[in-house]
Amino acid sequence: MPVIPLKTPTAAYDITIAANLLKTLAPRLKKLNQDKPFRPFIVTSPEVWGLWSKQALASFKEPPTVLFLPSGEAHKRMSSVESLAQQLATAGADRDSLLIALGGGVIGDVTGFLAAIYMRGIRYVQLPTTLLAQVDSSVGGKTGVNLLAGKNLIGSFHHPQAVLADTNLLGTLPPGQLRAGLQESIKAGIIYDAKLFRYMEQNADAILSGDPSALTRVVAASVRVKADVVSKDEKESGLRMILNFGHTIGHAIEAATNYKQLLHGEAVAWGSIAALNVARTRKTITPAHAERITTLILRYGPLSPFKATAEKLVALTSSDKKTRSGVRSFVLPTSIGTTQIVKDVTDAELLAATESMLTLMRQHTAVATPAKKRKP
Ligand SMILES: NC(=O)c1ccc[n+]([C@@H]2O[C@H](COP(=O)([O-])OP(=O)(O)OC[C@H]3O[C@@H](n4cnc5c(N)ncnc54)[C@H](O)[C@@H]3O)[C@@H](O)[C@H]2O)c1
Ligand SMILES: [Zn+2]
Repeated sequence: MPVIPLKTPTAAYDITIAANLLKTLAPRLKKLNQDKPFRPFIVTSPEVWGLWSKQALASFKEPPTVLFLPSGEAHKRMSSVESLAQQLATAGADRDSLLIALGGGVIGDVTGFLAAIYMRGIRYVQLPTTLLAQVDSSVGGKTGVNLLAGKNLIGSFHHPQAVLADTNLLGTLPPGQLRAGLQESIKAGIIYDAKLFRYMEQNADAILSGDPSALTRVVAASVRVKADVVSKDEKESGLRMILNFGHTIGHAIEAATNYKQLLHGEAVAWGSIAALNVARTRKTITPAHAERITTLILRYGPLSPFKATAEKLVALTSSDKKTRSGVRSFVLPTSIGTTQIVKDVTDAELLAATESMLTLMRQHTAVATPAKKRKP
């Protein structure tokens, strides 16, 4: 059973990846808290609870209180945090309360933020139920909610006591969600782990069909990348930036399509191809490596197409620029498993790279059926 430690100046905890973790939740919480008293509260969505409540309750003598947040990015808001906090208070939750985030990245981000601020901070455990949440969002301590002005603008670093990634839970995930989440694993391979990249090349059929041992291997390797990077740079002052590979144009695509048309992983996939095109034109990556990267990204499709011009997408990246004193840091792969961070990518360069990504998208989607769209 892969157990991956994460250690930062402010926290140390394990990410466990295995089947049947949900069924054995109560003794696991007990072990994590040894002699410390705790009262568990599960935060989840009605959909996830409908599928997994039996297993979630199986190991408890006294069932924990369950709080619900409706599914969807639209509920990742301050108003949800306030409503959940009110429900905690009404239920008599005190500083010994322990939250369990049972859901995808939305549930994880909201629950983590609620734990960060309820009574100035209480314990929580991540029990991610989507592939994206298992390989990415549950790891690293970033929590928060969206504002109308933009995504993730309110938040806090607050690490969980543990991450329990139960691979059984991926069995009920719609295939489109699985594929989109796998794009973050491909990203991890591109930026940091050539072995993971090769494994995903050689075992695509098994991984995409949800084979448990193949998925466990991919989740564990992806988590290792994130845990290693976060351990070296918790607050994103340097190395952690490499996790943003593909996200500059990826976020622009999400904004241009009002976060409704594509799943996050799909937008990152197109964004990765655009970033790769910058490296290709600069000749800082070999054509052979660039080709392998593009082929693997498309192999884990079909990726939904979208409508936006290169001009609009590049214009939308300016908010990324603003966040770091007007300088746009850009992550470019230099081969498979290595990257460089450059600060001199011009708008013209990015425009050309985005244009050729859009051309590829038109060819790709002419032959593929789009993945199921996210519910608004
Ligand atoms: N904190 C971080 O470091 C970080 C990193 C990456 C992404 N994120 C955030 O993660 C969020 C996206 O997460 P997501 O992709 O998991 O989306 P999500 O949480 O919206 O979940 C996607 C859908 O899958 C359903 N679902 C969840 N688990 C299921 C299961 N086992 N079976 C069937 N259906 C299931 C949910 O009900 C939902 O409808 C975004 O808000 C993003 O900003 C955070
Ligand atoms: Zn991402």
